[in-house]
Amino acid sequence: MKNFLEKIDYKNIPHHVAIIMDGNGRWAEKRGKIRTFGHKKAIKSIKETLNGCKELGIPYITLYVFSSENWNRPKKEIDNLMYLFYTNSKNYLEEIHEKNIKIITIGEIERFSKMIQKELLFFVKKTKNNTSGTLILALSYSGREEILRATKNIAEKVCNGTFSLKDINFSFFKNHLYTKDLPDVDLIIRTSGEYRISNFLLWQSAYAELYFTNILWPDFRKKDFFEAIINYQKRKRRFGNIE
Ligand code: IPE
Ligand code: IPE
Ligand code: MG
Repeated sequence: MKNFLEKIDYKNIPHHVAIIMDGNGRWAEKRGKIRTFGHKKAIKSIKETLNGCKELGIPYITLYVFSSENWNRPKKEIDNLMYLFYTNSKNYLEEIHEKNIKIITIGEIERFSKMIQKELLFFVKKTKNNTSGTLILALSYSGREEILRATKNIAEKVCNGTFSLKDINFSFFKNHLYTKDLPDVDLIIRTSGEYRISNFLLWQSAYAELYFTNILWPDFRKKDFFEAIINYQKRKRRFGNIE
């Protein structure tokens, strides 16, 4: 671990890292187990990653926990996942609170059961004044849905005369997204060897650096997170400019 830490440039820490935590199912299947076994093992990887964030002082981390498209999976897998969310959220979100981390959610959380919603809202409220970093949980999230929702909301305001067309600019649009109070994403990490974005943070990642690793999410550890950060720090971000 020391080797990795020595390579970190503390003057170039990404402000917002977002992770597509993929490969739980394959991890389990490789071991002849049901896919849920892999989802269970994902928790340790999340803990390691959040510890890594804290050590580096990364202020914002977004985790893609469940996409809108994931609702299309077989009922059995959805039921198992919902059971896992519910049974783990209390203990685990409490641990996050103890680390002074603020929790927020993005996505259509109203699609979850009342019990899960209640639990999530409880921790969002409880952690709202925490100051050691922000954990954003993307739950029933879809980048396109978020953009469409913002567009409808803005259209309504224009139609009823609250705003006019000329008021609509980038910052106005951003203010209608779930992520209105968050900085753009600097780095997206995706595990499991898939090279796609899968409808994640489409607006927010316009200039994000992308990092892909073959490691399956249940095997992802703090050193792997540091490796991604070191790789990010070698990139030259130009934002369309030269140099
Ligand atoms: C990611 O792992 C977790 C969720 C999408 C909920 P997967 O369940 O997609 O695992 P693979 O990609 O099928 O291996
Ligand atoms: C993306 O992974 C969603 C999450 C990690 C929560 P998926 O496994 O659902 O994405 P695809 O189907 O490979 O694109
Ligand atoms: Mg997957």
